Amino acid sequence: MNWKSWMLPGAIFIASGCKIQYQTEKIEYRAESRDIREGKRLTMLVCGSCHYNFETKDFSGKKLEDSPGIIGKIYSANITRDPEHGAGKYSPGELAYLIRTGISRTGRLMPYMHRPNMANQDLDAIIAYLKSDDPAVQPSARKAGKTKYTPIGRLGLSMVKAGEYRDSSIQKPKSDAVLLGKYLVDNLACYHCHSKSFASLDALDPAKSKGFMGGGNKLRDASRKKIRTPNLTPHATGIQDWTEAEFRRAITEGVAKDNSVISYPMPLFPELTEEESAAIYVYLKTIPPIKNKVKR
Ligand code: HEC
Ligand code: HEC
Repeated sequence: MNWKSWMLPGAIFIASGCKIQYQTEKIEYRAESRDIREGKRLTMLVCGSCHYNFETKDFSGKKLEDSPGIIGKIYSANITRDPEHGAGKYSPGELAYLIRTGISRTGRLMPYMHRPNMANQDLDAIIAYLKSDDPAVQPSARKAGKTKYTPIGRLGLSMVKAGEYRDSSIQKPKSDAVLLGKYLVDNLACYHCHSKSFASLDALDPAKSKGFMGGGNKLRDASRKKIRTPNLTPHATGIQDWTEAEFRRAITEGVAKDNSVISYPMPLFPELTEEESAAIYVYLKTIPPIKNKVKR
């Protein structure tokens, strides 16, 4: 981004007292799903890495250690059914709007939560689950912690365009492994971390993100040391010689091809079925190879 494109949003942002506020539309949305088990599986897969707390074994949120300090301290929210400390006040329509656009019911933008291409079927199951009486979403008064952005973090956020609400006609691919893999790489946000940078992602058409799946994005590990994401394209510097079984073991158990432990912030996805992890693997074999050697 060049300096000119920073000027207008920057000026508005400073003039508005550094508040990022969006207009929200009211969406009528009825979650039709009754499949709470599938809803829980999807919520773990899509929201769990940020919102699931392994100590309290519920969705009461935690600190996200992987965000660069320059952006600030980021805590995910408590999304249990508690109306004060959790997401109990969210209507199904407000949840659908938040997931599709990244904008909260009070008009705050959370760009990293943006899932514009999720099929209604999956969105339904997630919303039905969040409204269910499963123990992991029982009202909890635990506070996740308060997110504090630095001025640079706020300026960066003010550059990110919020998504427009799209009533998705996207169907979840069923029989085509390549399309299912593409859908999962999009909705499980693999490409957010495994492409060049968070700043050059294309949420509507993920494959157009800079350095798509070629790795090199700089994150922080659990001890806040810099860590760069590996290349997952079908190149010798990527996963060209990985087998499907090695790939599944890596993403479900956190053990790499060379038997080393894959560290935070790589989330584990043990809820993926064998068919789904195979689909991701098959899809990654079809994307353009990128030469980029990243030392783990
Ligand atoms: C990459 C991490 C990440 C993922 C994935 C994620 N969230 Fe969040 N979410 C956050 C953070 C961080 C906040 C708090 C941001 C803040 O306070 O500014 C948040 C806030 C929220 C809130 C509270 C909004 C408010 O009104 O304050 C809800 C509800 C929510 N998330 C639901 C979800 C659901 C449902 C999913 C899965 C479909 C999801 N999130 C996926 C990081 C994430
Ligand atoms: C929050 C960021 C993040 C997300 C989301 C993420 N990864 Fe990762 N991934 C990483 C990091 C960081 C590493 C390297 C960890 C290390 O060096 O120990 C990694 C490592 C890997 C590895 C091991 C590669 C190697 O060369 O050893 C594979 C395979 C992988 N990720 C696949 C995926 C898939 C598939 C998805 C989506 C389902 C995904 N990742 C989502 C951050 C992420």
